[in-house]
Amino acid sequence: MTKTIPIEEIHCHVDEEVTLQGWLYHSTGKGKLRFLQVRDGTGIVQAVMFRPNLPDDVFELAKRVTQESSLVLTGRVKAEPRAPGVPGGYELDVTGLEVVQTAEEYPVTPTEHGVEFLMEHRHLWIRSKKQWALLRVRATVMRAIRDWLDSNGYVEMTTPILTPAAGEGTTTLFEIDYFGQPVYLAQTGQLYNEATIYAFGKVYCFGPTFRAEKSKTRRHLTEFWMVEPEIAYCDLDGMMEVEEQFVAHVVQAVLRERKQELDVLERDTDGLERVIPPFPRISYDEALDRLAAIRQSTEDPELKASLAIEWGGDFGSPHETELTKQFDRPVFVYGYPTACKAFYMEPWPGRPEVCKSVDLLAPEGYGEITGGSERISDRALLVERIHRDRLPEAAFRWYIDLRRYGSVPHSGFGLGVERTVAWIAGIHHVRETEPFPRTLGQMYP
Ligand code: 4AD
Ligand code: MG
Repeated sequence: MTKTIPIEEIHCHVDEEVTLQGWLYHSTGKGKLRFLQVRDGTGIVQAVMFRPNLPDDVFELAKRVTQESSLVLTGRVKAEPRAPGVPGGYELDVTGLEVVQTAEEYPVTPTEHGVEFLMEHRHLWIRSKKQWALLRVRATVMRAIRDWLDSNGYVEMTTPILTPAAGEGTTTLFEIDYFGQPVYLAQTGQLYNEATIYAFGKVYCFGPTFRAEKSKTRRHLTEFWMVEPEIAYCDLDGMMEVEEQFVAHVVQAVLRERKQELDVLERDTDGLERVIPPFPRISYDEALDRLAAIRQSTEDPELKASLAIEWGGDFGSPHETELTKQFDRPVFVYGYPTACKAFYMEPWPGRPEVCKSVDLLAPEGYGEITGGSERISDRALLVERIHRDRLPEAAFRWYIDLRRYGSVPHSGFGLGVERTVAWIAGIHHVRETEPFPRTLGQMYP
């Protein structure tokens, strides 16, 4: 019996006889030679078959085996600098081959099909090298998120997905029938974490989040994953310091641990290497000035039109994209107009039309990856805001209560996993960063 190993550990087994369990990714050959590219979930390796060294039936089987057939291979590991694969540089000199199941004609060839076809075949598309690399980056992003928070004193809280009221505004709520009562899928766990900080100090929740957004952009999903840290006794400045440490940790972890996947994705990592605190900080007002200057100087009428914005308006993708092009690392934009943000944000001292909010915009045009704020800690003001937004006060009774028993300044933010992964991996559309994405037009598979 030889030892079964994962391809990612092949470098530890040079000159040993090993077994691999995987699937056929690609096969070529000529005359007495056959090259099988075999993947096993941890990597891809080239398996070489040389006719004179093998029984006839094994070599013939190798010629017939179809793409994506499941197979078990035995052979000797050789260091071969020219061998392709992930990681490259090793190959398997095959001595035995067993086909577990012969695959039917495989329908997915990423280079030949459009995204719509590929999305319909998402259950198969995820086997392709680029999708595989991307979802491995995602897993590392998720782990690095937890690692940083867990090792910096944050306690993980699970917050409910079924909720009695809006957290982020009423226009993007998914309503469901809960035994005859309307309830909503969570848009955020934040409001619950504003309760848990009073028990634990620093907390986070991390889970699926729902927005009934009718936006068909490359940045919007209807179901996405968000991590939301919340901190007692923390103001807006303190929170930005937390955010930049946190985001830098996540990026550096991917650079360290997923180098080969970033290579597969052909990601230029120079920009990512620069993601080290401190990040630049500009106010909303300054951002507007910068946008006005771009409008002034551009000759492109379409760009000019897409950047039109008055004081008070929220940024759309074009605004964020142009702003981030001016910085070589993520940039904080703080102090948005109160009217375009959620009800719970603390007003700017002496300027109530502005709130203590901050978004972090990722470079290279990726735009907003986090949104956060200092929260209103005064009870009367909070109640006024709940009325302003015509939210049902009764559903928020518990939330208002928090301002009655030891209220303190506190702040928190939410980071969207898919947008963060798209940026780090250099992928255009967030839908590829989920194994099974949900968008306005995507519910199958
Ligand atoms: O800015 P948002 O809406 O903020 C909140 O939900 C706050 N309650 C967070 C907090 O303070 N605890 O969302 C935060 C982040 C965005 O910056 C973005 O990365 C992501 O969540 N996000 C989406 N990602 C994909 N598709 C969507 N429809 C998204 N909406 C928000
Ligand atoms: Mg936001």
